[in-house]
Amino acid sequence: MRNLTEDNVTAAVVQKFAASSDQRLVEIMTALVTHLHAFVREVRLTEEEWVQAIQFLTQTGQMCDAIRQEFILLSDTLGMSTLVDAINHRRGPNATENSLLGPFFREGATKVEIGANIAKTPGEPAWIHGYIRSSSGKPISGAEIEVWQTASNGQYEGQDPNQPLSNLRAKLTTDANGYYAFRSIRPTSYPIPTDGPVGRMLQALGRHPYRPAHVHFIISAPGFDKLVTELYDEVDPYLDSDAVLGVKNSLVIRFTRNESKADATKYGFSEPFFEAHYDFGLEERR
Ligand code: BEZ
Ligand code: FE
Repeated sequence: MRNLTEDNVTAAVVQKFAASSDQRLVEIMTALVTHLHAFVREVRLTEEEWVQAIQFLTQTGQMCDAIRQEFILLSDTLGMSTLVDAINHRRGPNATENSLLGPFFREGATKVEIGANIAKTPGEPAWIHGYIRSSSGKPISGAEIEVWQTASNGQYEGQDPNQPLSNLRAKLTTDANGYYAFRSIRPTSYPIPTDGPVGRMLQALGRHPYRPAHVHFIISAPGFDKLVTELYDEVDPYLDSDAVLGVKNSLVIRFTRNESKADATKYGFSEPFFEAHYDFGLEERR
């Protein structure tokens, strides 16, 4: 293995994997090296660009700690998270599609009753409700829902020391009919963190950092594939340019204004409110 050239170096590296007994690792590394080398050939990568790439990846690693995960942000902004999710969760037509988990989910949300108010900071009041069913249409009672969203300043409770604990995040369980409901505020669009290398990459590419207004959900029930998803506000201007490519048509919801005083009293609002109805479908685990 001497005198390697631009024509035979790829095969020489791949050949070095032959001794491994881990077939899947060999498959992945062979494809990775083949595609990486093809990329270098295709763009005729310069030495300066290679150094820049190494510095970028180094800074991405240095930006990571227990809370901040810049590599996931990189994966999200390059569509990699959406692609990995899509190929691993090919669901039937009656099952709700996944969307990004994002970096702001925190374990340990407080358990609340159906209809509880999860917003401790002001915003446009909203009633979000619907049913959780199997893909064959049967209501799923006792399904666990975790929900989280930003306050109207575009920040999650975990990012913002000025928000009360457990603001806009909660855990609830569906009733015997598979019904869930909670009081909240209408979500707002917000920028993903831009103070690291990913932010600089977006800027260099002329990309904005905004995500369209959304509410996050994790829904689980025994025997069903865990659903990690988001619901997006139909009127948001960033729906077609989400910085992390998470929007799907099936996850876009309409917030309609409800002026009924009787409904406001029934649901615990002191003023007219927005209402969004969304039914989730869970896929049976195979
Ligand atoms: C989020 O929706 O919370 C999110 C998703 C991906 C990257 C950054 C934020
Ligand atoms: Fe989010």
